[in-house]
Amino acid sequence: MGQYTATQRKNVRILLVGDAGVGKTSLILSLVSEEYPEEVPPRAEEITIPANVTPEQVPTSIVDFSAVEQTEEALAAEINKAHVVCIVYAVDDDDSLDRITSHWLPLVRAKCNPSLDGEGDAEAEAEGDTQCESVRKPIVLVGNKIDLIDYSTMDSVLAIMEDYPEIESCVECSAKTLHNISEMFYYAQKAVLHPTSPLYMMEEQELTSACKKSLVRIFKICDIDGDNLLNDYELNLFQRRCFNTPLQPQILDEVKVVIQKNVPDGIYNDAVTLKGFLFLHCLFIQRGRNETTWAVLRRFGYNDQLEMCQEYLRPPLKIPPGSSTELSHRGQQFLIAVFERYDRDGDGALSPEEHKMLFSTCPAAPWSYSTDIRKSCPINETTGWVTLHGWLCRWTLMTLIDVVKTTEYLAYLGFNVHENDSQLAAIHVTRERRIDLAKRQSSRSVYKCHVIGPKGSGKTGMCRGFLVEDMHKLIGKEFKTNVVHCINSVQVYGQEKHLILRDIDVRHALDPLQPQEVNCDVACLVFDSSNPRSFEYVARIYIKYYAESKIPVMIVGTKCDMDERRQDYLMQPAEFCEKYKLLPPHLFSLKTNKKELYTKLATMAAFPHLRQFGLMTEDPKLWWKAGLGVAAATMLGFIVLKTISAAGAHSR
Ligand code: GTP
Ligand code: MG
Repeated sequence: MGQYTATQRKNVRILLVGDAGVGKTSLILSLVSEEYPEEVPPRAEEITIPANVTPEQVPTSIVDFSAVEQTEEALAAEINKAHVVCIVYAVDDDDSLDRITSHWLPLVRAKCNPSLDGEGDAEAEAEGDTQCESVRKPIVLVGNKIDLIDYSTMDSVLAIMEDYPEIESCVECSAKTLHNISEMFYYAQKAVLHPTSPLYMMEEQELTSACKKSLVRIFKICDIDGDNLLNDYELNLFQRRCFNTPLQPQILDEVKVVIQKNVPDGIYNDAVTLKGFLFLHCLFIQRGRNETTWAVLRRFGYNDQLEMCQEYLRPPLKIPPGSSTELSHRGQQFLIAVFERYDRDGDGALSPEEHKMLFSTCPAAPWSYSTDIRKSCPINETTGWVTLHGWLCRWTLMTLIDVVKTTEYLAYLGFNVHENDSQLAAIHVTRERRIDLAKRQSSRSVYKCHVIGPKGSGKTGMCRGFLVEDMHKLIGKEFKTNVVHCINSVQVYGQEKHLILRDIDVRHALDPLQPQEVNCDVACLVFDSSNPRSFEYVARIYIKYYAESKIPVMIVGTKCDMDERRQDYLMQPAEFCEKYKLLPPHLFSLKTNKKELYTKLATMAAFPHLRQFGLMTEDPKLWWKAGLGVAAATMLGFIVLKTISAAGAHSR
């Protein structure tokens, strides 16, 4: 199995208990020496069988108990330390059988309390099974001395099993003839490594709801074409991903025949339905092949409690300070495939229903459809639905601001299984910002722009304008839903870059900005050019937070379709920009519907060192040169700056 399988237990500790004289010590010594010891000590030494000689390749300790040599307390401690308890009775001794229910089973339940034992406690906690009520210690019932009788005790034992779900299995054996001895220890090992009770309810003869839920998710992830059936191709892929081997065609046919025979609607159009898939796992478990179902579950990230384990959801990712996180090509390809799979009607957009279905393999959608993704990303303007472009934008946004959530959701969506790799392959960690600055060019493709300005200056309109074709319709609109980020892509010298506009909410004019509100790839300071009291705030923010920083800054005057008013400030915006070697104020209006502001912001973010130059000459010839693709030239920085100035001039 691949390295991205959820980890399972690394060792197994088996404890044998039972009445005196039932043959516990003999069983252990028979296993070890492969012959029946006529004389046995009261208690066998603890032995550890090395991993390579056990069927499950896990080192296994076997511990004996003797009432003569050990106290109640010592027994309790051993019960706690053990991962599985074998309760041994002698098949020829009815009293020892009765004592299973009257004494041993209640005792194990009662003593299963981690606080009784220091060492076992720490170990149990580390493995996450401190909760003994919910995760009872698995039990194997062992009927020894079967050589002495010519009937079976299985009927009585099966009746006990029905009352005690923690009993994983039962076996009749003989230390004397060695009959079923290795089987007994194998069952004990399996009870720990591939327990039945989390998967299957003996009484109901049905999968547990947690198991069913996990298998439904697995089915959906494997159903690549989304037709609610697993065809031969999908089953083959599933088999290869889970077991690293292809499925033999005749085995595939046999499996289908078995399903068809037992659940007629388990097969449809020669493909396996969800019902058939669940039945198949039921069958595996009923036939004692739990390990098959467990292997599948673990491959899809589940731990022993059938929860998706932390290492699987959140593999450690190192992000040096000054680096950012973006989707890699593989990450994008995967997300495109997922989108296309769930765009059932093929209209290039996800309806609310399709969006909900897409995230049905996750605990919940990572964002709200109506108040988040639809408001923060470009959408299909006729239907209002999320387009593929908007979809990728939203993931790009999440990957930049909350990469852990991206890794979690990629895991839920099945990246690790489909790509046969950890979801870290979907993430690209960019080089550090200072290297970008030193090399005078950014290698990133996602930039964060903070939009800062006084209340009512038109920040939100400017942010939302980035997402729509026609900004006109935003005029006079009240933005009710509070969307913090807007993201879209723009071309910067022929390359697609994503620009995230973060609307920084101003509560009071005098409130200080937090460092995380200041830090970004480019700052956009917005004032209302029709309001004379507006620029002062922007000027103050600039002087206080940005004058000394390396962050490129753009000053934007909004509502430029209205009468421009003289600002009540000691300098007018243009003078201010000149004094601080900033680009002249960019005048913006939703009415004119011009988008170059966004390109300018992305360009400034992509060439951050230009901040130092501060040359403001507006020479149209240089604008053209930039357009001719001088992107590789050494003088690039200089020329790009001109371009920005020229574009600024253009928009007025
Ligand atoms: P305590 O240590 O007193 O708790 O007993 P124990 O469970 O360890 O039993 P032990 O192995 O000492 O065996 C008790 C008796 O049963 C011995 O005389 C064994 O030889 C005998 N015995 C053990 N296993 C078998 C078996 O499979 N068949 C037969 N016929 N006798 C057995
Ligand atoms: Mg003994």
